[in-house]
Amino acid sequence: MSQVLEYSEKVMDHFTNPRNVGEIENPSGVGTVGNAKCGDIMRMYLDIQDGVVKDAKFKTFGCGAAVATSSMVTELVIGKTVEEALKVTNKAVMEALDGLPPVKVHCSLLAEEAIHAALWDYATDNGITIEGLEPPVKDIEEKEGHESAE
Ligand code: FES
Repeated sequence: MSQVLEYSEKVMDHFTNPRNVGEIENPSGVGTVGNAKCGDIMRMYLDIQDGVVKDAKFKTFGCGAAVATSSMVTELVIGKTVEEALKVTNKAVMEALDGLPPVKVHCSLLAEEAIHAALWDYATDNGITIEGLEPPVKDIEEKEGHESAE
């Protein structure tokens, strides 16, 4: 039987059993990003010590792909330096999930941007510059034409 949308087993796993859901008390950085078109919102919390992401948690009010990409992106950034975490792209998140249907690519962009927003919060709070980090957008739709978009 064919389905309208095909999701990988990994997407289904991270959707039904998401890792790192919740909040971090006294986080080093928090970032919230939404997508006005679909109404989904993602909030990322980072605990950063000595420039390394020690912990990451998220709260996502959104679709299954948004939950799965949030879950995967937290797994990918934990243990990385802030510079390495910045380089975790939505493509890397999608690859780690064995792909997403084309109409769901924007959900992974939300995950990438939420991490950037949390890193920005951390950097501005601590008066440091993370090379390549740009001010985050509140609504991901502002980033239309982003190079890693569909
Ligand atoms: Fe909006 Fe997935 S439909 S983030």
